[in-house]
Amino acid sequence: MKKVIIMAILSIIGVLNLSAKEINLIPQPISVERMSGEFVITEKTSIQYQSGLEKEATYLQELLEASTGFDIETSEGKKTKRAIVLSVDSVRVATTEGYELIVSDNSIVICGADNAGVFYGIQTLLQLFPPEVYNNVTSKDIEFSAPAVAITDAPTFKWRGMMLDVARYFYDKEFVKKYIDMMSMYKLNKLQLHLIDDSGWRLEIKKYPRLTEIGAWGGEGPTRLGGYYTQEDIKEIVAYAAVRNVDVIPEIAFPAHMLCAIVAYPELGCTGIQHEVPIQHFISRDLLCIGNEKSIQFLEDVLEETIALFPSKYINIGGDEAVYTNWEKCPKCQAVRKEQGLKKTSELQGYLTNLVSNMMKKHGRTVVGWQEIAQRGKLDNQVVSIAWTNLKYAKDATDKGHFTVLCPASHMYFDFPEGRTPGEPKAATWMPPISVEKCYSLKVGDYGSKELTLGVQGAFWSDIFIHGTTLQEIYSINENRSENYAEYLTFPRLLALSEVGWSVEGERDYDSFTDRLKHHYVKLDNKDCNYRVPEPYISEVEVSEEGVEFTLEESVADAKIVYTTDGTYPNPHSTEYTEPVTVENTSDFKAITIVTNRHVSLPIHIEEKYADFKKYGELSAEWKPKDIKGAEFATWKFEATGKIAGNGTYEITFVYTGGERRLDIEDVKLFKRDELVGEDVHTGYTGGSSKNNTYTVKVDSFEAGTPFFIEANVRGDLSNDSYGAVFIRKVK
Ligand code: ACM
Ligand code: ZN
Repeated sequence: MKKVIIMAILSIIGVLNLSAKEINLIPQPISVERMSGEFVITEKTSIQYQSGLEKEATYLQELLEASTGFDIETSEGKKTKRAIVLSVDSVRVATTEGYELIVSDNSIVICGADNAGVFYGIQTLLQLFPPEVYNNVTSKDIEFSAPAVAITDAPTFKWRGMMLDVARYFYDKEFVKKYIDMMSMYKLNKLQLHLIDDSGWRLEIKKYPRLTEIGAWGGEGPTRLGGYYTQEDIKEIVAYAAVRNVDVIPEIAFPAHMLCAIVAYPELGCTGIQHEVPIQHFISRDLLCIGNEKSIQFLEDVLEETIALFPSKYINIGGDEAVYTNWEKCPKCQAVRKEQGLKKTSELQGYLTNLVSNMMKKHGRTVVGWQEIAQRGKLDNQVVSIAWTNLKYAKDATDKGHFTVLCPASHMYFDFPEGRTPGEPKAATWMPPISVEKCYSLKVGDYGSKELTLGVQGAFWSDIFIHGTTLQEIYSINENRSENYAEYLTFPRLLALSEVGWSVEGERDYDSFTDRLKHHYVKLDNKDCNYRVPEPYISEVEVSEEGVEFTLEESVADAKIVYTTDGTYPNPHSTEYTEPVTVENTSDFKAITIVTNRHVSLPIHIEEKYADFKKYGELSAEWKPKDIKGAEFATWKFEATGKIAGNGTYEITFVYTGGERRLDIEDVKLFKRDELVGEDVHTGYTGGSSKNNTYTVKVDSFEAGTPFFIEANVRGDLSNDSYGAVFIRKVK
């Protein structure tokens, strides 16, 4: 009897042990072989490293000493017991940045193809330890053990980047370092530092002091906003990033997005007009005047100081969103166009790109820029083109022999909200939300040529920070508005980006990713990194005579779920979810994830009103009697930005929901800003019964960031007493 009890206890402990040692790595390595045993860090643990790996050894030492409280010795060469052994062997591990990691009872061996591989082996190892390993505070009561495993790993893509917009909103160097640290935890290796935009110049340039004296600051008095990095700050950031295998790529934007420089030195523009540094989101039409010798000198001087600070092989020159009206009107710019034999004014941008790329070539650097740089005339040198509005530009670039990096606004712009849940912070709204799943769905290999597709990048724009000043009343975001908010929007999507860039494309699996992701929030907590707490997953909804039964699942491991059944917003003291809950109406049920009482999710959000019309696609507009002129046909216009979200064929369906009269439709036009892109003319109606009430349009010139509108020619049958909704569905 006693034996049975002991065995039962042992087996429970066994199970507990196993679940505590569950392996949940992000990004998923190429192969993970589980073995028996574990490595436990004790006061005897040491780090032994091969010559050339001192930085990696010190990085690991500092991290382990802080969390475990042990003195961890490091030594070059000499073999010690219970060691973590770091080495490089590019024959054994052939792929750049790849590594092997073997954890056994007595040792941990990390062998990298290069220093980067060793660093990534360390990152994988850290994910095997309890999450407190990331904490700066010593946890004496925790056993720091890692399960025995043999892992072989290497990245799929060599460019795994993030862009951080420090121009629209200035983040200090400590935040930039933290961002780099978080990127490196998930094996991202390129930081595009967006140093310049219309609303701010963030890089000290000794030859042009007004750039930072004037161009780095917007507004007056207490609302004055801005800042910049000194050259010493940049050196510190670059050195910090180098240890973490993050290549910091400066973005010096031109010919557009540089109004701040023209404010500091008005002679750099075509008009000479003295502007002000904008304090709201603004894309200036002022460009660098190409016909002005000072401008070319300016670019050369600025780039010279820039490359002296940034060792990266890549220099980003921006190049996006230039509108050429000022160049069209400027006699000096037009003189250059004629002299160069260029037909179109826009080709002057290509001319400028060539000037700079030739200069960069002399310094052994490669020019990177947004997709537009490969679109404005013939280029002298191979460049890296970042596709952002449309992934067809990836192929377009590689067809021309350029490299491409995918950073589509549809999947990788982390300044977009994750969902439409009420309460979601106000963020960029010109595209549909980007859920973690959407971000994860990007297949990097599907667009440009294999040889010239370098990889993938996320982008975090900060224009929303200077849009207005009110953010949503979510205390965990508002207590430290900018940095917490940036992290809220970046995480957890950065983890999806990590796997998109690193793991084997054909083997990625979203369900597996979400199962692992559940266990990463606690790691982020230990890193003191904010994130958007996911709502509980709704795993089942069953409608019966008793009402609607909800079955929920946790989306954050070990986090509590609480709910209400009266439609009110739950708080940490609401009823804890333990079993399926039945309510009379769907909208009565609200549930949230609670990580801590101060870090909770938004409530699960069920759009109920139009549940029956889901088959028609997304709700795009609703009409009321006032939108309809009367019994004569007239135009009703509404916005469809975000519903038109890429090239393809769209069905636009009108559905009557109330009122005395039916709605007649005879013509539906789709506009991209004010350009007609598609039209369907036929007679249809929707009322007590509906006929031919779906209109089909084709979009083949989609551009992210451009608003779409629909103009429908409609009338009420006899009067305007009609209510209804329009749904848009992408069919191809
Ligand atoms: C961009 O979003 N303007 C690259
Ligand atoms: Zn000009």
